[in-house]
Amino acid sequence: MAGGDPETLRLEMLERWERAAAGWGRRAANVREWGMPVSAWMVEQLALQPGQRVLDLAAGPGDTGFLAAELVRPGGTLISSDAAEAMLEIARGRAAEAGVDNVEFKRLELEWIDLSTASVDAVLCRFGVMLSVDPAAALREIRRVLRPGGRAAVAVWDRAEDNPWATIPSRALIELGHAEPPDPAGPGMFVLADHARLRERLEEAGFLDVWTESIDVPRAYASAEAFVAETLDCSHMFAVVYRELSADEQARVSARIAAELRPFAAGDGSLVLPGRALGAAADA
Ligand SMILES: C[S@@+](CC[C@H](N)C(=O)[O-])C[C@H]1O[C@@H](n2cnc3c(N)ncnc32)[C@H](O)[C@@H]1O
Repeated sequence: MAGGDPETLRLEMLERWERAAAGWGRRAANVREWGMPVSAWMVEQLALQPGQRVLDLAAGPGDTGFLAAELVRPGGTLISSDAAEAMLEIARGRAAEAGVDNVEFKRLELEWIDLSTASVDAVLCRFGVMLSVDPAAALREIRRVLRPGGRAAVAVWDRAEDNPWATIPSRALIELGHAEPPDPAGPGMFVLADHARLRERLEEAGFLDVWTESIDVPRAYASAEAFVAETLDCSHMFAVVYRELSADEQARVSARIAAELRPFAAGDGSLVLPGRALGAAADA
């Protein structure tokens, strides 16, 4: 578990996600598109059947779960959940737009999932577990709510060096003196970024037959400006600091980011940034 008071940390993080929801709502279609290789891999691992009950945890805008909802028809249900009410609201809207009607929405915390033991057939959790204050508790809870033989598919981010889209903006803020380096003991995008560590955590939580796979998720942008605009919408940490800066300081941060993006730019300024997720599937 991270250092510091876990309850305070949880509340701060939840508050951040409540505020980040509007930006995630604006970018939900992009997130769905670049994240599709991960969602598709996860849903495939579950080998879903009609009639099953699937839980999507930390679902954000909800799209990974919506793929699963289709596969459990007829008779099956998706529980789309998140700790942040504002995220659930975004997911409700997206489900209505997409015509997904075999779904219930529920506010659920990863670390104490308010569902009965052995009450679901499958669990999805994309880019959520590593953000909880106590990932080991989250994994134990996922196993508890799965029926014996049920399957979980989770995805976290792979190593920082494989995900420059995430490291370039925060490094620019730190190097220009606007932010402190993150607490290495705290929750963060890369705390489970290792096949062996992720497998071990799942096994410690009681899962069997754990397998992991790296999944490439490149992201395309029209320009460095488009990348910064998306980062402002999706990274609350980045947005809070950046928006407090003067126009000159913002320009210097943007220029630093653009310089670091150059190796990934084509002649017309468009970008393809590499990204790599780490998927794991396991049986309860
Ligand atoms: C990086 S987003 C991922 C959203 C979505 N799963 C996706 O892959 O697009 C992380 C999500 O986890 C939620 N979250 C963060 N901490 C949580 C917790 N302790 N319990 C449940 N949800 C949490 C946030 O509100 C946010 O929607």
